[in-house]
Amino acid sequence: MASLNDIRSTFLDFFAKNGHRVVDSSPLVPRNDPTLMFTNSGMVQFKNLFTGTEHRDYTRATTAQKCVRAGGKHNDLDNVGYTARHHTFFEMLGNFSFGDYFKEEAIPFAWELLTQGFGLDPKRLLVTVYHTDDDAAVLWKKVAGLSDDKIIRIPTNDNFWMMGPTGPCGPCTEIFYDHGPSIWGGPPGSAEEDGDRYIEIWNNVFMQFEQFEDGSRRELEAKSIDTGMGLERIGALLQGKHDNYDTDLMRSLIEASAHATSNDPDGPGKVHHRVIADHLRSTSFLIADGVMPSNEGRGYVLRRIMRRAMRHAHMLGAQDPVMYRLVPALVRQMGAAYPELTRAQSLIEETLKLEETRFRQTLDRGLRLLDDELARIPEGADLPGGAAFKLYDTYGFPLDLTQDALREMGRAVDVAGFEAAMDEQRAKARASWSGSGEAKDAKIWFELAEAGGVTEFLGYDTETAEGVIQALVRDGAEIGAAATGETVQIVVNQTPFYAESGGQVGDAGYVRTDTGLAHVTDTRKAAGVFIHVATVTEGSIAKGQPAKLEVDHHRRGMIRANHSATHLLNEALRRALGDHVAQRGSLNAPDRLRFDFAHNAALSPADLATVEAEVNGFIRQNGAVETRIMTPDDARALGAQALFGEKYGDEVRVVSMGSLDGSGKGNDGKTYSIELCGGTHVGRLGEIGAFVLLGDSASSAGVRRVEALTGQAALDHLRGQGAILAEVAATLKASVTEAAERVKVLFDERRALQNEVAQLRRELAMGGGGKGVEAKEINGVKLIAQVLTGVSGKDLPALIDEMKTRLGSGAVVLIADTGAKPAVAAGVTADLTGRISAVTLVKAAAEAMGGKGGGGRPDMAQAGGADIGLADAAIKAAEAVLEG
Ligand code: SER
Repeated sequence: MASLNDIRSTFLDFFAKNGHRVVDSSPLVPRNDPTLMFTNSGMVQFKNLFTGTEHRDYTRATTAQKCVRAGGKHNDLDNVGYTARHHTFFEMLGNFSFGDYFKEEAIPFAWELLTQGFGLDPKRLLVTVYHTDDDAAVLWKKVAGLSDDKIIRIPTNDNFWMMGPTGPCGPCTEIFYDHGPSIWGGPPGSAEEDGDRYIEIWNNVFMQFEQFEDGSRRELEAKSIDTGMGLERIGALLQGKHDNYDTDLMRSLIEASAHATSNDPDGPGKVHHRVIADHLRSTSFLIADGVMPSNEGRGYVLRRIMRRAMRHAHMLGAQDPVMYRLVPALVRQMGAAYPELTRAQSLIEETLKLEETRFRQTLDRGLRLLDDELARIPEGADLPGGAAFKLYDTYGFPLDLTQDALREMGRAVDVAGFEAAMDEQRAKARASWSGSGEAKDAKIWFELAEAGGVTEFLGYDTETAEGVIQALVRDGAEIGAAATGETVQIVVNQTPFYAESGGQVGDAGYVRTDTGLAHVTDTRKAAGVFIHVATVTEGSIAKGQPAKLEVDHHRRGMIRANHSATHLLNEALRRALGDHVAQRGSLNAPDRLRFDFAHNAALSPADLATVEAEVNGFIRQNGAVETRIMTPDDARALGAQALFGEKYGDEVRVVSMGSLDGSGKGNDGKTYSIELCGGTHVGRLGEIGAFVLLGDSASSAGVRRVEALTGQAALDHLRGQGAILAEVAATLKASVTEAAERVKVLFDERRALQNEVAQLRRELAMGGGGKGVEAKEINGVKLIAQVLTGVSGKDLPALIDEMKTRLGSGAVVLIADTGAKPAVAAGVTADLTGRISAVTLVKAAAEAMGGKGGGGRPDMAQAGGADIGLADAAIKAAEAVLEG
């Protein structure tokens, strides 16, 4: 029996042999479509190739595409588990032509693969065509020899395929398999078509049109092909099963569920196992593609699916979380075809375990409330909306979970009442924020969040995406459009742009619509709404337009490197300086990083070198950066570093990097850095390239600040330093290695010369060449009073001492003519200090020169004068002191 994995390969190999490029499945979160919640068919990733706005180096492709149909158009959630062929997650096998072949080749390909490749009995096959599509009908007759009654013309939209409200579309032909008269049902288009006898197995769409928002269509220049065959359906058929859940792959998941809950896979809990098996696939693949459970948008759809499965696990009597224990079985089945699943295994397990642990805390109480409410209302009546809302609001029961629980009893929810209760809660929230005194321009963000929901951030996984412009804002008010030269704040439903937070600056880049281009210079957020601050540089942009959003990749790359390096730096500092090192702030800009932390002393050069070397060591180790979601308590138990004083929600994002190779020194024994962080990081540490610490300074009391560079900026800095050193060496006429020694020698020489010069100056001042200076005798006291040039105030005390020695007994007054303000000093030999004070002398001299003050001891005092032109008067004043 061919397994589902074999059947997938047979399909891809058949089309590869026929000139098709085997293209990987695109992620479940579409990057190229602003309107789709999840990728719902194989053609989504090729949308722009059909419309001709994008070209690649192939015109034929084949894929096995992951699809989710839950939430939005094509929503299968309600039926899943109860029917044979509904799934939230399925794989769509497809072949595609982009302006290459059309119907004439697509129909023979399909026929050959089904009848020869898969060996289906041609007599069991029949097809539908769109009622006006004569070409397709003729081709089926010619290629497959089908009789007219097996080529059924369908006039409805069943045979006109549309991806969503807008986009490429066209008539299609569907291929059906007839299970024979033993099963009830009629051919497509008949009154009994809903029976299980005739099963649709393959849809071939002839892409001919593009549909626009106003309902109009244009004919595509290049006619194309888009086909889709559900792997689960064709697998069931080829494995002789009538139920997709009986195929080998689904069966192994059902058995894993039965095993984990100690239950019979085919007993009364059958539906529960089927729900669990299906939802395990959609939740795991969504998490692998970057969706995290939340209360908004895609994250909320994920949460709804998860909780629905968890209630079914609970109904099987499971006492502990179940879902995460089934992930290994899924990875065994599908990890080879979808390596992203294997890569994300631990993230998926942790996320499921966390969600199930938390949900179980309220599940029992919620179910009891449900029972009580039901007991209170008449048999068969709808559950009041208020009760459903309470289950939602207090117990975390999404509406469809409550509906699912009631379905088993043949009952429903008063949905209008539920919506009314929801509106009332929103109104209360509005009243509280409008009264919260927010600035006027903050109000608009709350209003936009309420009207259009918060912005979904796609930027952990992609730097380009499409979104719809939900609002253009200027000066706190909405505007309809912005033209070239205008600056505007752009709000979209989903964005790859990171909004400034946690020290990481907002992204820059471009927003492009059909009519214009805006240059985004910064991204911020308020009330969950991302605000793209932009200037329109071409044409104009308008509210309601679909837009391509493109983050400046180079800039983001540098920001990422700086942010990841900051985590390594934080840990390296903690290890070098002690556990008291706690982050007090950070900046992750494209050109540099800054990190403030609690520490009392300056870092020594040795500390800086150790920290820098340790960070570079982990960069060279090039380990993967891992992101996980957990409760704040679990994160703390793991030893995660958190920002002091920061408020964290119920779930936190935990970023880990660097491996200690089991040295046991890490927080969890193995991992170097573990931090709570919402920022964007490098995939592998090697992308940081290099790390250079620029040194540290004091930021505030008890807080140090270090700055550092990474990547090219680090190398540029080192090269710049090298160039400066080379210039120094060249000036010194030395090699770079000798430069430091040469500078030291020069300094020594300089000091020796300075000493020598000072000595010579003194000698010169003293009359030079040993010539004595004339002393005057006044009142029996010898006085030397002189103006000296070429000496500074600093030289005076030594000169005074020298003069005193020469005099033996007497007084000295010296005035230094420094060019600017003169300096005065006076000295009196010890034998005379009883009679005359140097302080009196210096004050008298300084005052005579317009100076003030002066001080010192009786034997030596100093002062400053104002005007050297009055030096003679100063000398006279000193003499007058002696004259008494
Ligand atoms: N887009 C079509 C479908 O989903 C064919 O792939 O059925």
